[in-house]
Formats: sequence, C-alpha cells, structure tokens
Amino acid sequence: MADATVYAPSSAFAERAHVRGMEGYRELYRRAAEKPEEFWGQLAETELAWFQKWSHVFEWQPPFAKWFVGGKINASYNCLDRHLATPRKNKIAILWEGEPGEKRRITYEDLHRLVCRFANVLKDRGLKTGDRAIVYMGMVPELPIALLACARLGVIHSVVFGGFSAEALKTRIQDLEAQAVITADGAWRRGKEVRLKDAVDEALAECPSVHDVIVLRRTGETVTMQSGRDHWWHELEAGVSDECPAEPLDSEQPLYVLYTSGTTGKPKGIVHTTGGYLLQAQMTMKWVFDLREEDVYWCAADIGWVTGHSYIVYGPLAAGATTVIYEGAPDFPQPDRWWRLIAENRVNILYTSPTAIRAFIRQGDQWPNAHDLSSLRLLGSVGEPINPAAWEWYYKTIGKERCPIVDTWWQTETGSIMIAPMPGAVPLKPGSGTLPLPGVVADIVDLDGKPVGNNREGFLILRRPWPSMARTLWRDPDRYRQQYWERVPGVYMTGDAARRDDDGYYWILGRVDDVMNVSGHRLSTMELESALVRHPAVAEAAVVGKPHEITGQAVACFVTLKKGEWNHNDLAEDLRKWVAKEIGSFAKPEQIRFTDALPKTRSGKIMRRLLREIVTSNAVTGDVTTLEDLSVVTRLASQHDEE
Ligand code: PRX
Repeated sequence: MADATVYAPSSAFAERAHVRGMEGYRELYRRAAEKPEEFWGQLAETELAWFQKWSHVFEWQPPFAKWFVGGKINASYNCLDRHLATPRKNKIAILWEGEPGEKRRITYEDLHRLVCRFANVLKDRGLKTGDRAIVYMGMVPELPIALLACARLGVIHSVVFGGFSAEALKTRIQDLEAQAVITADGAWRRGKEVRLKDAVDEALAECPSVHDVIVLRRTGETVTMQSGRDHWWHELEAGVSDECPAEPLDSEQPLYVLYTSGTTGKPKGIVHTTGGYLLQAQMTMKWVFDLREEDVYWCAADIGWVTGHSYIVYGPLAAGATTVIYEGAPDFPQPDRWWRLIAENRVNILYTSPTAIRAFIRQGDQWPNAHDLSSLRLLGSVGEPINPAAWEWYYKTIGKERCPIVDTWWQTETGSIMIAPMPGAVPLKPGSGTLPLPGVVADIVDLDGKPVGNNREGFLILRRPWPSMARTLWRDPDRYRQQYWERVPGVYMTGDAARRDDDGYYWILGRVDDVMNVSGHRLSTMELESALVRHPAVAEAAVVGKPHEITGQAVACFVTLKKGEWNHNDLAEDLRKWVAKEIGSFAKPEQIRFTDALPKTRSGKIMRRLLREIVTSNAVTGDVTTLEDLSVVTRLASQHDEE
C-alpha cells in the first residue's frame, strides 16, 4: 500500500494553506509531542476566549482527564459573542436551506440574538447549569440554536438523531433523566413529514423526569399538545429579552452527552466537556479544512451524530465560519440537489461520507456535471473507510482534480479529528487517513499491547490523552474504563483494526468489536439482537455486518424461531418493521435468514466470525469498501472476542 498513487499538494493550494509542506506539519507535530501542555496551553490562550484562565493545563488520573483545570469558559460565548466585536458580526453564520426550498441566511449578530432569546426561554422553564435537555429535531436552524442556548446556560444537551424511533428516544431520555425535550412537530424528508412530536409523545409515556416539552412549528401539521407539559417555541419566545449573558462555566462542565452504540445492548452516553473539546474542534477546522475567512463551508452530516456536533456547530462557529445546513434528502426532488446547492451558494468546502459518495456514483455523472462546481477547493470524507474507486470519483468528478480530499478518521469518543492530512502539507494516498494530527500519538499493537510495526495489521490505539477526548460515560465510569482503557492497560483502545505503511500512513480496516458501520453510522449487533428477541416469534438472533456496495456494511440477521407455523416471507418483513420501531428505520436489516440453530462455542457464545464469513462469501458484489481486508478484521475480531 506504500506504493499507492500519491497526490502531493499542488503549489497553488500549498502556498495559501495555514500549514505548508511536510516541514510545517512535522514542526507542529514535534512541538505537540515534546511539550503537549505548553502546546495546548498556548493555543487555548490565543484561540479561545476565557472568563478566567486555568490554573494548570492538564490533570491525568488514568483514565480520567481534565483540561484547562480551573478555567472558566462558555462554548456559546466562543461561538457567538466574541465574533460580534469583529467584522464577523455581519457575516453569515448559518446558511440554511429547507427541503421544500426555503432559504435563511443568519448572521452572527442574528444568531446571537436568537440564541439569547431561546436561552431565556429555557431559563424561564427553570433549566439551569447541570440540567439535561434532549434535542430531537430535524436539520433546521433552531437545532443549533437550541444547542447554543443550552451551552449558554450550562444545560447539558443530548441530541437524538431524528431517525431514531420512539423506543430508542425513550431509553436515552431515561438514561439521562432529562428534564426537558426540545423538538418540532415534524421534519421534511424526501417530501414526506417525519412525525417527531408523535414519537416524543409515545416516548414520554414512560419518562417521568421530563417536565417540559418545547415544540418548534416546522411542518405545520397537526400535533397533540399536552397542557402544562407541552409549549410552542414561538409562544414561549414571544415575550423574552434579546439579552442573556453567557454563564462562566468550568472548563470541565459537560457540554453534551451523545449516545452511541457499544458492544452491549445498551447505548453508551459519551460525555464531552467544554474547554478542551472546543479547542480541538476549532483547531482541526484550521488544520484539516484549512478554513479561510471567506469560505462557505458545508458539512453535510446530520447534527444527530458527532460529525454534526463538531463540524457543523461547534468547530465552524467557534472558528467564525459560514456553515451550510440543508434539511433534507440528497436526492430530493432530484439527484442533483447537493450540486445545485453548491453551485448556488458557491460552497468552497464539502465534507461528507463514503456512503453518500457511492450513492452519487450510482446515480450517474450527469447530475454533478450539469452544475458549476468550480467554487469547491477542498473535499472531506468521514465515517468509514473510503474505497479507492469512490475516492477517485470524488476527486475527479466533484473536485475536478483540483481539490485535495481530506480523509478524516475519528470517533464520537475522540470529539475531533485524530488522523487526517493537513491538505497543504501532507501528500494524499486514496484510502488512507494519512498521518496523526498534532497531539495525537497513535500506534498499532497486538492484544498484549506490543507494537506490531509497519505493514502489519493490529489494533489501533491512542497513547496519550488529548483535549477533546470523552471524559467518561454518563453515570458509568466503570464501563468507560473497561471499554477503552483496560484491554491494553493505560492506552486508549479505538476498537478499529488498522495497518501503517512505511511512510507512517494509517489505513483503517474496520471495527474489531461487535459494532457495525452502516452508512457511517454505528450500530451494535447486541442492540439489534436484543431488539429482535423482543419480537414474540423470535427465539434467538445473531446479527453481523455484511459488505454492501453503497452503505459499506448492511445488517444481516440469523434468526431461530419459537415453535409455531410461520410464513417466512411475511415474518421477515414484519421483523424489518419491528427493528425500525425498536431502533429506527436506518437500522432496518437488509437480510433476514431463518435457521434451526446458530453456531456456538462450547461455552455457548455465538460464533459471529462464521456468520460473517457466510454473509461475506455469499454476497460479493462490486467494489466493496473493506472487503479485501475482511478476513483480517474477522480474524482480529475473533481474537478480540475470545481474549
Ligand atoms: O470504525 C471507525 C469509523 O467510524 C467509527 C466511529 O464511528 P462514530 O463514533 O459513529 O463516528 C463517526 C464519525 C466520526 C470508527 O471507529 N470511521 C470513522 N471515520 C473513518 C472511519 N473508518 C475509516 N476511515 C475514516 N475516515
């Protein structure tokens, strides 16, 4: 792989970049490696606004880290107020387009006012620092407004992706014991309404902690409002003031909890705090996206996932960028919606997932080719390994061989990008995230923690704590320790398999635990299995990821049934719907196979390795992301399981 085609930065790009040439990269990396506290301390001082300076940069009681200890800061202040004294005051902060076609351009000054007003609404409902608010909305400007209003007061927000079902929403509200839910009547997706408020009503039947539901009117369709508990956003906002000072919060005040799938049936509440998170989210905007003042930047993820938190909301707004938000489906009303949006808004940076790219490839080049994409200067990829064919298409058809592609490896837990090229410095190799960013000390080890060296597969680990790392799991520090820090004591275990080539470039091969990656979204096999066995017909279920041409992986289920007469076709459809109800429609299985028994070890553990092999060898179609490496991942996964 060291011989893969290499794309060096063009001199035109490199000349204007924040970090130039390999020397530029190496110098930053060296400074961070040699004196991490000095490195991050200096950046925190120059790049963020503090109400009170920290007493020391870093405290480490493994595996629990604190950054900028004693410092007082506010994320909302850093994303808004500090820009108002600069020419950014009248710059567009959010450039929004609704799926039906409405457009809103919200300047930093407008956004500040809107956030202050909504923060006053939250205050009036009695919410205060340390309380929790669940945010369950579509991609409308009020979603980031809600987040920034929470951050202003120190209310911990937890966004639940709008594609999750009432059941999944309920378990998250319960785990967090949230006091409030912020939602909308619905959201537009492919011309249809996603009925958000109905799902909230269903979830709240068993959530006694929630005393307030604030509902944005978006679609205008009829919803039920429970008196005393439910309030319209616009009604609560009617009488409030435009002023709401940002609370000086501890640097370690939790900013948000974001649930992600783990290896058990119960999702993990990843806790991110304020100062360190914000610093690294902002710095990576500069290092990886090479953000310039005049850029129109578009991260096309959903704010329901970590990518949206760090690279639609906190990173770009802290950096004073213009961030584009689009509400709906990429192919609505036609497959050129994104390309039209890029051309009309002269977008300079596009950040998306390999799944989206592969879906565009399938639709045909005529859609992007019909639009002027000459404003683009940088492309990004995230969420899953990008196969070289998709990389080349993105590079040629979208970037016209002019735009570097930054393949960014990171996780919900890492808070910000860890391995990615600095585009004016690091030559690209399609399919590799290239080199670790400053402050990131990565390695590849075996299960004893011994480095495997170059050109060998092993487990990707991070050796040193970093500012934007997750601090713990919500009310479950033991699971945090066990999950990430104990398998190889003292280092952070990512759960990914990887290989490093002789140039030091990292090649991510896929997950080694029971977590699948479907369209760049994490799904746990255990979560799916527990959902399936709750169905009255199912005795036992085993779920594995199956390579898929577009989504990277798809959900494949092996199911044994209880005694009875079943029509397999009807039941398979019923089980698909059941999973959509229990988790969300994005988790719907692609394949359901009925079987009399599941392969098990003597101790009764399901041998998923065998099942993975069955679904893989049966279903090789086209250019599949990690297929060539699947045997490796399968082998590593079984070591990991059996250990
Ligand atoms: O397996 C890796 C894959 O996505 C996982 C993290 O998923 P999540 O927490 O949902 O965050 C996704 C967005 C940051 C990782 O453990 N992954 C993420 N980015 C890449 C990737 N795999 C290969 N290449 C990437 N660029």
